[in-house]
Amino acid sequence: DRNLKIAPSILSADFANFGAEIEAVEAQGADWIHVDVMDGHFVPNLTFGPPLVKAIRKHIKTVMDVHLMIAPVDPYIEAFADAGSDVLTAHVEAGPHIHRTVQAIRGAGMKAGVALNPATPASEVEYLLDMVDLVCVMTVNPGFGGQKFIHSQIDKVRQLRAMIGDRPIHIEIDGGITPETAPLMREAGADVLVAGSAVFKGGSVADPAPYGSNIRAIRTACDT
Ligand code: DX5
Ligand code: ZN
Repeated sequence: DRNLKIAPSILSADFANFGAEIEAVEAQGADWIHVDVMDGHFVPNLTFGPPLVKAIRKHIKTVMDVHLMIAPVDPYIEAFADAGSDVLTAHVEAGPHIHRTVQAIRGAGMKAGVALNPATPASEVEYLLDMVDLVCVMTVNPGFGGQKFIHSQIDKVRQLRAMIGDRPIHIEIDGGITPETAPLMREAGADVLVAGSAVFKGGSVADPAPYGSNIRAIRTACDT
């Protein structure tokens, strides 16, 4: 299935070895690299900001998919553009002016994504669909890797697929993706699957082969 993209989340990689981890997971078949930015305010966890994102950019050959779990977003858009983000995704819950944020992301030369927390309805993005490149459906509450998939989000993906029609907009799923949950989302209409713990488990920079078998297991599960 050439339209399906697997985007490993480096939240589950070895933070002391990001460059080598990214190169290893790309060599093992990652389609995009998903980068989780958290501010300890919009979500109850902290990761890193634009300088680190810029530093890892040179290790990424494919698409750098940056997921902002921060509020506010607008003051940092230029910095994430300068860091080399290809896709910049902001949460609709991060402030009252997501329309302006999306305009600014596109204006800074990046593809624009909007993310929805599990309790946020699909209708929140209805009036953004003519100006976004990606809608990210959170299938866990954002903030941490390794959480359990929230099944109620399958229906949200179906609704989004119908709303989007034939517009060239990716539907990305983030959280709890495994070979068991991936096919549910692929069938519902998602085409980008983010996976952190399910990709990085069992492997390391010294022994990256498990990254490849983990990615293939998710892919193969979606083929049926
Ligand atoms: C959660 C992050 C996810 C996370 C997914 O807040 O946005 O990208 O890394 O991790 P897993 O795949 O382990 O649920
Ligand atoms: Zn994410």
